[in-house]
Amino acid sequence: MKILGICGSPRDKSNTELALRVALDEVKKESIETDVVLLGGKKIEQCTHCNLCADGSCPVDDDAKEILQKMTEADGIIIATPTYFADVSGLIKTLMDRTVALRRGGMLLKNKIGGAIAIGASRNGGQEHACMTIIRFMLLHEMIIVSDEKTAHFGGIGVGSSKNKEAVLTDETGLQTIRNIGAKVAKLVKYGIKN
Ligand SMILES: Cc1cc2nc3c(=O)[nH]c(=O)nc-3n(C[C@H](O)[C@H](O)[C@H](O)COP(=O)(O)O)c2cc1C
Repeated sequence: MKILGICGSPRDKSNTELALRVALDEVKKESIETDVVLLGGKKIEQCTHCNLCADGSCPVDDDAKEILQKMTEADGIIIATPTYFADVSGLIKTLMDRTVALRRGGMLLKNKIGGAIAIGASRNGGQEHACMTIIRFMLLHEMIIVSDEKTAHFGGIGVGSSKNKEAVLTDETGLQTIRNIGAKVAKLVKYGIKN
């Protein structure tokens, strides 16, 4: 069993990365292997709708190839994004578009467990909308999506900062929702629906 975390911040050791690692710490408590992909610094070209992926493999030779492979192999995927204009970062959206090859290749993400995390500088900065973009993406891949419990509902929602890349670690309210997402994805992967 493996759960993959994908971080969509272009910044190193960012609020989003730290939040993702908090969620993955919950995964480790269930003795499930974790892996992290940091999209910052990766070379991911835009999908050009060339349609060559109709047979399942994307012809573009860049870092997306390895990431798509990791997504295919994972049992669960947690996508964490900084909130940019009340939505996911461009890095996340560009990767999402490239995963069309996984749909066309035979719904390769079907029934994987998914969770969303969004970090913004404001408490109500559009993180719910960003989470919904991730959730819609996962629905179109026929993944099974977990909610947060009692608090943020749509996913792990944290308050970070433009200037302080560790600010999210002081947002205890947000951290609880982020832990909930990690724990729920892990439990669903490990025990199935009845837990
Ligand atoms: C282009 C851009 C757009 C942003 N838009 C929003 C926004 O709509 N809502 C918000 O709360 N914060 C917004 N922010 C602030 C970031 O979400 C915030 O600084 C977050 O902590 C960045 O995550 P990181 O530390 O993981 O890079 C924006 C930042 C940038 C650079």
